[in-house]
Amino acid sequence: MSEQELRARIAAARQTLGKKLVILGHHYQQDAVIEFADFTGDSFELSRQAAQQKEAQYVIFCGVHFMAESADILTADSVKVVLPDLGAGCSMADMANIDQTLECWEQLLEQCPDQTIVPITYMNSTAAIKSFVGEHGGAVCTSSNCRSILEWAIRGGAVPNHTAGKKVKVLFFPDQHLGRNTAYAMGYPLDSMVVWDPRQDLGGSEPARLRDADFVLWKGHCSVHQLFRPEHVDDARRRFPQMKVLVHPECSFEVVQKADLSGSTAFIVKQVEAAAPGSQWALGTEVHLVNRLAQQHPEQKIIVLSECQCLCTTMFRIDLPHLCWAIENLASGNVVNQIQVDAHTRRWAMVALERMLSIKGIPQALGKTAPMATTVD
Ligand code: 13P
Ligand code: SF4
Repeated sequence: MSEQELRARIAAARQTLGKKLVILGHHYQQDAVIEFADFTGDSFELSRQAAQQKEAQYVIFCGVHFMAESADILTADSVKVVLPDLGAGCSMADMANIDQTLECWEQLLEQCPDQTIVPITYMNSTAAIKSFVGEHGGAVCTSSNCRSILEWAIRGGAVPNHTAGKKVKVLFFPDQHLGRNTAYAMGYPLDSMVVWDPRQDLGGSEPARLRDADFVLWKGHCSVHQLFRPEHVDDARRRFPQMKVLVHPECSFEVVQKADLSGSTAFIVKQVEAAAPGSQWALGTEVHLVNRLAQQHPEQKIIVLSECQCLCTTMFRIDLPHLCWAIENLASGNVVNQIQVDAHTRRWAMVALERMLSIKGIPQALGKTAPMATTVD
């Protein structure tokens, strides 16, 4: 079908469904899809929107699998959440599974019996890990509110047997970069963090290092954001001395340190929207968002930080043909590609997500605070 035909058919099916359907679109979606979204946003904003849909019977989530799972958890039982292409996963979320998590937890408890361990997972994780985190006194976070959630966690989170004076350790899944960048911005030095490699005994650390650490960072990363390198920042500055470099905190520590600013997709959008004409930006995030901002703000100069044109290939799987197929099926009463989380997983994952939603976190810059001299016990 031509793009024109696809558009017309999607619009017709949508009209048939009326208020029964809400379409959510993540910032990284392609423009043709974003055009049909009732709400666009970062993963935090979209999970809030999902939670607020009282009239809808169906949510089509134009994003990736973990986002649709979160929407299913947060919406009423009667709401059916659809992901137009089941191949739209997230390579980062796939880097931590529940068996590895249970193994890690057991080893940490054994090594640190006198400490409170608070598990925190980034939104980019499976529902099973969100559920684990909820059941063990932790919460979910997104890149919009990571700092607020980690500040809550390092005070003991919601771990029931935590008592004042007990050392708190945060176990952070699955993005080591977001964890490291945020903890450092909070004032924790790099040597207060260890990386947990799930393929190695004790995560690859010495027992003493594990016990001393304030943050245990899961060895995961985003395959898109890791493509940005420090030399790209140097190169942008060399070519455009007035240019500000603004990156997502899934970028490596070295890139975030060299950048002028770092924050979630919502933060990036806000910064550009608030900037004066003539502003220049090199953005270290997914190329669809960068190109959209460049198009919406011709009065500014906006480029993607790396020539590699970092593309999230899984987000890109959601396109007009898949959207058309999903929505036409819904319009004829056939629910396809429904994302359903089982009752037990849902119960505790909901706790972890609700804790996140109740901890205030506005899109904020991470900052680059100098490390504290001492760590917090
Ligand atoms: P946001 O939370 O900023 O939307 O990011 C989600 C994501 O997957 C970024 O790679
Ligand atoms: Fe996952 Fe990275 Fe794609 Fe975000 S950009 S959905 S973290 S692979």
